Amino acid sequence: MGFKNFYEEKILSKVITATCGQEEISELRAKVVPLAEGAVFELGCGGGLNQPHYDHGKVTSFAGIDPNNALLDGARARAAAQGWEADIRQGVGEAIPFEDGRFDTVVCTYTLCSVGQTDRVLSEMRRILKPGGRLLFLEHGKSPDPGPAKWQRRIEPVWKRLMGNCHLTRPVGENITGAGFTVEPLGAEYFEKMPRWAGWMEWGVARKAGE
Ligand SMILES: C[S@@+](CC[C@H](N)C(=O)[O-])C[C@H]1O[C@@H](n2cnc3c(N)ncnc32)[C@H](O)[C@@H]1O
Repeated sequence: MGFKNFYEEKILSKVITATCGQEEISELRAKVVPLAEGAVFELGCGGGLNQPHYDHGKVTSFAGIDPNNALLDGARARAAAQGWEADIRQGVGEAIPFEDGRFDTVVCTYTLCSVGQTDRVLSEMRRILKPGGRLLFLEHGKSPDPGPAKWQRRIEPVWKRLMGNCHLTRPVGENITGAGFTVEPLGAEYFEKMPRWAGWMEWGVARKAGE
């Protein structure tokens, strides 16, 4: 195993699980994930931290992908522990391995910051949604305030190398709207336990524009 693989599997996966597993982050997940219904697809499902938040009475099937095998072990273990039949595969959002119009809900939490090609991933999520389907998102991204935004630009080059390609400067709502969605924002705020350059959070519901 090369150093990069060692770092990503043995260290980064634990850092991600610890950071994303914080109680206050869980409270934000609880504002978004229970809105999922029908056939659900989760992008970047690694770790399975969203799974306890789904309303199992409303979810008819669950599928998810993530490129990080170490994290996927966690997602599969959580699904098994709750007796959930889940189709959890290794894969990337730039090429989602499901057919057009398959899902009622796509869930994406803290993942758009890390993907390689944001536009392509958003286009793929749009493609797999049924007509009238919804993208539920909870993401961190570009601060609306000049001070933190300046630090985000400065820190990002190092940060993304240490944190699995996590970007600080991606504008969440703007990117989703730009990919052909209409966004209904549900909330936006700084996360108190993080410095402002790392803690700007946005969450909401997006539908294909024109539907
Ligand atoms: C900060 S973690 C968030 C994990 C999970 N979504 C959550 O809310 O706890 C970022 C996730 O994005 C995944 N990821 C990175 N690049 C990706 C890509 N191109 N397609 C899909 N997932 C990706 C990582 O493997 C990781 O699981």
